[in-house]
Amino acid sequence: MTPDLLAQGARRVEERMATQSLKTGQTESGGREAGFSRVNTPGEVDVTHGRILYLEDVSVSFDGFKAINKLSLDIAPGELRCIIGPNGAGKTTMMDIITGKTRPDEGRVYFGSTIDLLRYTEPEIAQLGIGRKFQKPTVFEQLTVFEKLELALKTNKAVTSSLFFRLDSRQSDRLAEILHTIHLAESVGRLAGNLSHGQKQWLEIGMLLMQEPKLLLLDEPVAGMTDEETERTAELFLTLKGKHSLMVVEHDMSFINTISDIVTVLCDGSVLAQGTLAQVQADERVIEVYLGR
Ligand SMILES: Nc1ncnc2c1ncn2[C@@H]1O[C@H](COP(=O)(O)OP(=O)(O)OP(=O)(O)O)[C@@H](O)[C@H]1O
Ligand SMILES: [Mg+2]
Repeated sequence: MTPDLLAQGARRVEERMATQSLKTGQTESGGREAGFSRVNTPGEVDVTHGRILYLEDVSVSFDGFKAINKLSLDIAPGELRCIIGPNGAGKTTMMDIITGKTRPDEGRVYFGSTIDLLRYTEPEIAQLGIGRKFQKPTVFEQLTVFEKLELALKTNKAVTSSLFFRLDSRQSDRLAEILHTIHLAESVGRLAGNLSHGQKQWLEIGMLLMQEPKLLLLDEPVAGMTDEETERTAELFLTLKGKHSLMVVEHDMSFINTISDIVTVLCDGSVLAQGTLAQVQADERVIEVYLGR
């Protein structure tokens, strides 16, 4: 696809947005937004029990040290769950377990009510629709924003078999829509390496979105961002909520305050408290673990 086609796609999306003021999750045909979440596709996650992610009594030890200790937690479809907790609480390790990077010693980890994630490898879990954003620096900095988003589609197994890969009109509409969502529509031709730190992070998120994840795990997404970038990231996450399920680990409490509904506090590898940010911040045990370290 050429940038011309992209511009056409962007125009179509903008026209649609301008003329219809679509409500979240609604399309002109009355169904759910086709771009972000597929309905009734093979391998669809069964969320009839109201949970997209379910962890029960999960534990893992490293050289005898229990990094995760009988951790139980669940997330509803479309929820934006914030996870906080002191350094070493096990937040990143929990994401490692969900994504198949680390195998727990015991416990259950389900995606929806039927997919036992412990039976899958890390690449298979990504393929099932769990996207993870690491803090790692961007690779392939010599590619443009457009090329990186296009590449993200190609890493999807379903399309790699096509030697002469071209975006179809649905994919180019989707690419244009994501560019708009991640605030990079104006920067489509810029090299990834020339973007600001915040823009690089948004691009990474855009690349994940190209693969239409059902659940997104984001570990310290606003670390190193300016205040303005942090605010725009909060807006971005609020846009994604409902269309995707999100698990966001952050230490930035004003960011958490802007985006959170339910906050889970992890400490010593298990849930210490859960509730609104105000509730958990007023919890004596939470105050203790934060002040005690
Ligand atoms: N592969 C590993 N081998 C040994 N110990 C590990 C390993 N991964 C994590 N740990 C230990 O497990 C504990 C939990 O670490 P984890 O990185 O999950 O914490 P965290 O909550 O993400 O902390 P932070 O807020 O600093 O990112 C820490 O004590 C850490 O040193
Ligand atoms: Mg961590």
